[in-house]
Amino acid sequence: METDLLSGKKILLGVTGCIAAYKSCLLVRELILRGAEVKVVMTPSAHHFITPLTLSTLSRNPVITEIFPKDSSQQNTWHIETALWADVMLIAPCTINTIAKIANGFADNALTTLVTAMRGEVIISPAADVDMYEYPITKSNITKLTEIGFHFIDADSGELASGLEGKGRLPELQKIIDSLETVLSGYKKDLTGKKILVTAGPTYEDIDPVRYIGNRSSGKMGLKIAHAAYLRGADVTLISGPTQLSSYQGINRINVRSASEMKNSVISEFEKNDVLIMSAAVADYKPENKSSSKIKKEDSLISISLTKTDDILSSLNKGNKIVVGFALETDNEVINAENKLKFKNLDLIVLNSLKESGSGFEVDTNKVVIIGKDKSKIELPLMSKFQTAHKIIDELLKLYKL
Ligand code: CTP
Repeated sequence: METDLLSGKKILLGVTGCIAAYKSCLLVRELILRGAEVKVVMTPSAHHFITPLTLSTLSRNPVITEIFPKDSSQQNTWHIETALWADVMLIAPCTINTIAKIANGFADNALTTLVTAMRGEVIISPAADVDMYEYPITKSNITKLTEIGFHFIDADSGELASGLEGKGRLPELQKIIDSLETVLSGYKKDLTGKKILVTAGPTYEDIDPVRYIGNRSSGKMGLKIAHAAYLRGADVTLISGPTQLSSYQGINRINVRSASEMKNSVISEFEKNDVLIMSAAVADYKPENKSSSKIKKEDSLISISLTKTDDILSSLNKGNKIVVGFALETDNEVINAENKLKFKNLDLIVLNSLKESGSGFEVDTNKVVIIGKDKSKIELPLMSKFQTAHKIIDELLKLYKL
């Protein structure tokens, strides 16, 4: 397996003074587990919410809190050395006060001083109460910083510490870590303005109110594609079969159960989108009749007659849209995938072989071959499903002017 992208990366984590500061502990823990080196810098207000001792213990490094060294024999160039050490700086959570200072070039504490000295990318994940987050000056500060190359992670909506409902929550950690990985991989917002429809997960074909015919798809690959496209600026609609997995806020998610529900949703969303990535494992057969009451043992059922579901991809009027399919194969993989690409009128097909260890259902990694209309083949090494998702998007962008 390719090593984790975060392994060995030097991450400077800025923590500012708001209630979400307690979540920085979990963030540091996760980064350390992924093999990153972490140094934390705190603003004076952050101390009201969390102690340097907690963060130094978790990060295994002293926490930077002071702008000037306590010992006058030390040189005061720590900020230059630390900024040069870091591959990336992530400020999470970042208050609107710190955003305002950064937008105006202040270097009045250890954290803001480090921002001004950074050569690597800086990612800001704001957290505030709804009115503070929506405050026009905050918004214009965020716009200003975005224009000069700072990366922002949109706050989530929901119940805030004040009891109010609205936008301003620190996003779930996975979204922050995925954003970090995306920036560290060098990806930009190259899908801004593009509308991408992704399907994910299995479909369930009901036998009776209790039982169904399903498959082992977990939905992970499709979800990672939706997430990677979203972080690269796309407007993403996700049509998901039954899965336990949550998707980022900001993704328009439509939950479906059966192949026919998925077909109806794909058809109604297809027109509004530029690209369809059909990664769902759609059932090919469904029970001919669904029993409206539970089938009892005494009913001496001996067989269930099945009928074919409609092939969703083949029923689309493709026009000039880009359509990507998936092929899950165990035998004659490439030939089968090429046939599917041709018969389903696809632009690309992503071949998943169940024979490869570490790829396929339920796992977090995948090893795929991306096949083009011209029979071009990109064989990707075993990598995380998130990195695979980015590579599929890269191929899409290389082949088609989106
Ligand atoms: N697909 C679809 N509608 C179906 C079944 C599959 O649109 N009823 C799509 C899948 O989402 C995938 C592609 O077709 O993008 C290939 O799916 P796969 O299950 O590999 O192939 P099938 O066409 O179902 O053929 P087989 O099961 O015989 O391999």
